[in-house]
Amino acid sequence: MKEEIRVLIEADKVEERVKQLAEQINREYEGKKLHLICILKGSVFFTCELAKYIKVPVTMDFITVSSYGDGLTSSGCITVKQDLTMDIKGREVLIIEDIVDSGRTLSYLSHMLKKRNPASLNICTLLDKPECRVSDVTVAYTGFEIEDLFVVGFGLDYAQKYRNLPYIGVLKIKED
Ligand code: PRP
Repeated sequence: MKEEIRVLIEADKVEERVKQLAEQINREYEGKKLHLICILKGSVFFTCELAKYIKVPVTMDFITVSSYGDGLTSSGCITVKQDLTMDIKGREVLIIEDIVDSGRTLSYLSHMLKKRNPASLNICTLLDKPECRVSDVTVAYTGFEIEDLFVVGFGLDYAQKYRNLPYIGVLKIKED
């Protein structure tokens, strides 16, 4: 089996869009404090990059959730592997995600986190595949809408590989 990656969104386009999203967030959260929740592992690059350009006071926490395993499709079974370390009650919470696919992860997480009574709970995703949606999710900030392609890079993996690519690429697996 041979893995090939075709560039879908160049690194500079990703960076430019991240800055635009941060500007929008800065405007809409002006005068407030923002609590970012990074969903590990995929959104670590996006969260850090975005946070660099957010000008309102920021706190950050991390949660490890998994739905994919090592395959190309979602297992549909969401597991919280490591919960948040901070209470979100009364905080303006922004969940940062690398990709919304079926929406199962964010639907599950939103329900779980709303029960903890944050002042607000919004979602920011770098990528969205609207045509793959199975569970209803309201996304406040979206970097790019893409087709139903298996993408890697900027945090996204295939079998834990390619997260470090600075661009978004489409993975193709070819028989030898
Ligand atoms: C991926 C991605 C999202 C989720 C999206 O995580 O980072 O969290 O799947 O899929 P969904 O909308 O169909 O639920 P994954 O389980 O692969 O873990 P990872 O972030 O560690 O790569």
